Amino acid sequence: MIASGDPRPIGVFDSGVGGLTVLSELHRRLPAEATVYLGDNARTPYGPRPADEVQRFTAEGVRWLLDQDIKLLVLACNTATARALPTVREASPVPVLGVVRPGAVTAAAATRVGHVGVIATVGTVESGAYPAAIGEADPRLVVAQQACPELVPMVEAGRLEDAATERAVRGYLDELRRQDPQIDTLLLGCTHYPLLRPMIQREAGSGVAVVDSAFTTALATEDLLDALGARAPAHGDGSAPVAHRVATTGDVAAFRAVARRLFGEALPRVEAAELARV
Ligand code: DGL
Repeated sequence: MIASGDPRPIGVFDSGVGGLTVLSELHRRLPAEATVYLGDNARTPYGPRPADEVQRFTAEGVRWLLDQDIKLLVLACNTATARALPTVREASPVPVLGVVRPGAVTAAAATRVGHVGVIATVGTVESGAYPAAIGEADPRLVVAQQACPELVPMVEAGRLEDAATERAVRGYLDELRRQDPQIDTLLLGCTHYPLLRPMIQREAGSGVAVVDSAFTTALATEDLLDALGARAPAHGDGSAPVAHRVATTGDVAAFRAVARRLFGEALPRVEAAELARV
C-alpha cells in the first residue's frame, strides 16, 4: 500500500551507466524525490544477451533495489524493459514503470509524415517491443528499427565525442535511412543513447525530431506519483537535503568517471553493490 506523501526513494535500474540519463531527468523534474540507482556494470551490455539471461540479471538487480525500501521502480533500461517488464511487474510489491511505452507514445505524437525510426540494442530490436508500442499508440505509423551493438560499449567507455563513435552513429543512421528514407522522427530506444544525443542529432539532421526515452520516462514517473498520491512530502523551507544513492556492481571509479559528465559535482557518492543470485 502506498501512503500519500511517501518519503521513500524511487528505485532506478539499468545494465550500466545509461539509466543515469533517466536519473538525471528525474532529479530535474522531481527535485523533492529521493532516489536509489543501481547499474549492473559488471554484466553490461545486456543488449546481446539471450532473453532468459536478461530476465535473470534484471530480477537480481530488482531484488537489490526492493531491499532498499523503494516506493516505485523505474526500469531505466530498454533491453530489461523489453525482455523482462511483465515478469518484474508480476513479482514486484511496488509499481513498476518501463521506458518503452513513454518514448513510443511521444514518438507517435511527434511524427508528421507517419514514419518513425528506432535505434536500440539487438535485444530490444529483436523483442519487437517498440513497433508494438508505437503501433498501439497509432496503428497507421510505419516503424523501421536499427540495432546499434557498438554504441553501448562506447558509452560505457566514456567515448562520447570521438571519431570512431561518430562513424558508428553515421553508419547506423545510414542503414536506417536505407530502410526508410521518409523517417522524420528518431526514437532513442536505449537509455545509453541520450549521452550521444548532440552527435546523433547532428548526424540525423535538423529536420528529424529526436525523442529520448529518458525525458519521457521522467514525465511518466511524475504522472504515476501523482496518480498514486505518492510524491515525497514537501519540506517547508526547502532546506532538508534530498538523499540520493548510486550503486554499481562494476568498477566504482570507472562508473564515477562517466557519471560525472552527467551530474558534475552533484554526483552522489558511488557505492559497490553485490547482487544475490535468484
Ligand atoms: N541502457 C540499456 C538499454 O536501454 C542497456 C543496454 C545494454 O546493456 O546493452 O537498452
